Amino acid sequence: MTNTNARTRSVARTIDGVRTLEGAGFSVRRPFPTEALDFFDPFLLLDEMGPTEIAPGGPSVGAPTHPHRGFETVTYLLEGGMRHKDSKGHAGKLGPGDVQWMTAGAGVLHDELPDENFVRRGGTQHGFQLWVNLPRKDKFVEPRYQEFPAAGIPTGRSADGKVVVKVIAGEALGARAVIETRTPIFYLHFTVAPGAAVTQPAPKEFNVFATIIHGDGRFGSQEIPGAEGQTLLFAADGDTVTFRNSGTEPLSLLLLGGVPLNEPVARYGPFVMNTQPEIVQAIRDFQSGRFGSIES
Ligand code: CO
Repeated sequence: MTNTNARTRSVARTIDGVRTLEGAGFSVRRPFPTEALDFFDPFLLLDEMGPTEIAPGGPSVGAPTHPHRGFETVTYLLEGGMRHKDSKGHAGKLGPGDVQWMTAGAGVLHDELPDENFVRRGGTQHGFQLWVNLPRKDKFVEPRYQEFPAAGIPTGRSADGKVVVKVIAGEALGARAVIETRTPIFYLHFTVAPGAAVTQPAPKEFNVFATIIHGDGRFGSQEIPGAEGQTLLFAADGDTVTFRNSGTEPLSLLLLGGVPLNEPVARYGPFVMNTQPEIVQAIRDFQSGRFGSIES
């Protein structure tokens, strides 16, 4: 497709993900929040969970009971198995390719652990958790879940079959997401064959970044190199994002875009509000049991 009016965005920054421990001590690679970048409005956090090898029978660790208020958590599993339950009586499992989009809103207690059946067999645990901020008007909405198995996530393909995209949110290569977002967001998992290239529409008002899961690529108008573990932030100087596989293995990456909320962000761990008094209130509500409890 050629649109002579479209301009390709440049890459503004490259960030190396930082390895850290999360939850009860599982390894994540995190581009933000880090010293390099606090958040990328409306995105608050991105964690690549693993890849971690779990021996048959374990040990394995997850994120035992913790609260959330004022934003959304999006879990996308690539390999392995997770289970989760919460104070609203919701429980489920995630396998490879499955997506859970949780709107925490007013607040939930959440429990996320490796799936027992997966741990018994052992294998690789690998996935992503993204935190998406909610606008002021939506911070107290009722918690909501959107859960889709891998087979329910729409997939787009280029005509030559060299580019495949799983459309978790938004639209790409003729495929449109089934997950609804509260503000305009796209969440795309591209797999690009060596030598192949992608041009993805990304209107100027979107903050856009790519996180590389595997392989080597060249990004944006300056053809900036990027490799596994790196996150590239695109400038708002165009309305398309371009990249290509410059390596010999498939290039696998997440391309995310969202319209910034441009609201003040007050955050304290799992609470993300607009003001400090709202954070104090969230902590009080949590400590006084207003987030409920998790049935075992
Ligand atoms: Co959680």
